[in-house]
Amino acid sequence: MTEYADRAELAALPQGTPFGGAALEILRARLGALYGGDVDCLLAKVVDRLVAAAEARPNSLKALDASRRRGPDWAGRSGETVYTFYVDRFAGDLNGLIDRLDYLQDLGVRWLHPLPLLKAREGDSDGGFAVRDYREVEPALGDMDTLERLARELRDRGMGLLLDVVCNHTAREHDWAVRARAGDPKFRAFYHLVETEAEVRAWEETLVDVFPVTAPGSFTYDDDLGSWVWTTFYPFQWDLNYANPEVFLEMLDVLLFLANKGVQGFRLDSAPFLWKRKGTHCRNQPEAYAIIEAFRAALDLAAPGVLLLAEAIESLDDVLPFFGVESRGCGLAYNNGVMTALWGALADEDVAVVRTVLTAASARPDHAAWLNYVRCHDDVIWNALSAYAPPQDLERWSAFYDGQGFSAGRKFQTAPGGVASTNGMTAALVGVGRADVDPVAAMARLTLLYGVIHALDGWPLIYMGDEIALGNDTGFLADPLRASEGRWLHRPAMDWPRALAARDGGPGAAALTAIRRFGAAARQLEVFGVRGRALPLQMDNPAVLAFSRTDGRPFLCLANFSNGPVVVERPAGFDGAGREILTSSAVSGQTIELAPYEVCWWLLEA
Ligand code: GLC
Repeated sequence: MTEYADRAELAALPQGTPFGGAALEILRARLGALYGGDVDCLLAKVVDRLVAAAEARPNSLKALDASRRRGPDWAGRSGETVYTFYVDRFAGDLNGLIDRLDYLQDLGVRWLHPLPLLKAREGDSDGGFAVRDYREVEPALGDMDTLERLARELRDRGMGLLLDVVCNHTAREHDWAVRARAGDPKFRAFYHLVETEAEVRAWEETLVDVFPVTAPGSFTYDDDLGSWVWTTFYPFQWDLNYANPEVFLEMLDVLLFLANKGVQGFRLDSAPFLWKRKGTHCRNQPEAYAIIEAFRAALDLAAPGVLLLAEAIESLDDVLPFFGVESRGCGLAYNNGVMTALWGALADEDVAVVRTVLTAASARPDHAAWLNYVRCHDDVIWNALSAYAPPQDLERWSAFYDGQGFSAGRKFQTAPGGVASTNGMTAALVGVGRADVDPVAAMARLTLLYGVIHALDGWPLIYMGDEIALGNDTGFLADPLRASEGRWLHRPAMDWPRALAARDGGPGAAALTAIRRFGAAARQLEVFGVRGRALPLQMDNPAVLAFSRTDGRPFLCLANFSNGPVVVERPAGFDGAGREILTSSAVSGQTIELAPYEVCWWLLEA
């Protein structure tokens, strides 16, 4: 492609993105770094797809892009509550979900993050994470028209749709894999095929199994292929080979297709695994970050309002680069370091590790925000905290949440030498519903955690059911397809009678009231001009977490992680007048009294 044709084609693209015309240069640089060779030829192919997508982009979505461009910092707002759930378990199907939007809006939700809903393989699909067709909705959930209707309905309500794109692997039944199995060399090159067992062993020497019990090894021999294929997760999930630029191109096209259906953000599943390098554990390689940056730059040219969320449950130091190394990467990433440390603090009544992790998390770039959460559909991975907490802490917490103390969680598989992860709903992990646990304290633990994650800088995430303190579901044990997968323990069906009762003061009411209030209060922080990163303060009691945000109106969050009342001195520099936002009361005095597991939010005079 000549320079001239390049510019002429790009004239059709919306310019003035946060990077202006620079996005094309960024894209060229990232593709050059990844693929070398004749980068202009590859860029021409990418630009073709971008031009087609930009031309097809509906005006309503272009208007959304424009509004986001006017406020480039929109991703940094407080109180952008996200709700994550399995569509079938929450509402049956997409039509049912549309019928439940009032419920979600009433809860203060601004973003819906349904777990994978694209057409999955039949039988076991790892909860939809084995996609057979990225351009079709799972038939049991609805169709593309209904997805578009949902996206439109959300836009009309000022809400957004964040969709899972399982970009690291496809199902063995995806068309690309089918063609690879039929022997088509073009599609064989879409996957990592390994010819000999010796080569498999050479790779596996440095790999760490994700599911060592239910899916040992990282390769699967496939008779049709006549070779081994890389399968990081389950044998039916085939890792894509991003060293092949055609894979990048096709996955970008999927993103563009879905963006034009009204999807406003993508959760890039398993982002750490996108690049393989011999002699490494094949996670978080520099090229994985570059791929994300290339996706970002490309979207900046054709759908700039679309957000990228990194699904990288790794050590914080490996997560931060997903926000971008050479250029902008994801706008959001799971704050799993803080999440895991909060659970540890609750077990120990000691917040030291949370303080360390909060400081490290504050290294995020300005354009990006943390997705702060307590639980999600996966296990709590203690190993991801190993750079911040000694192994004996991780072991103790893992054992604690395996049914000790107040918890009713369960251990989950981990690779040899690692610390077992934890499964279980938030309510179960904090002891709600356990006959031998004080129900008031249990509920206070749940609201404490949600109170903290709403006060941090970033977007709060509610995991479906936590708002009514829904417990574990052992029903999966009776289902042969799911029985061996412990994560289904915390993937219950929504209990609508309980949700209705919670509104009227029934079981779960305390969680519902608190979580709604936290969301509303977080949005107030935005209005009051609270800005900046949450930075921890050293307190004179190990169980008290204190952090401030001081770039705008001074804000202080205090949280008592112990099951007893505490009195602490006000931290230095925060001795002025102010208000406690959650209870709407004035703050006064030099000391602060906190009830067991109490969280309070102070807004101070500037
Ligand atoms: C991500 C998902 C997890 C899934 C895995 C493989 O980690 O969150 O649920 O099993 O990817 O797709």
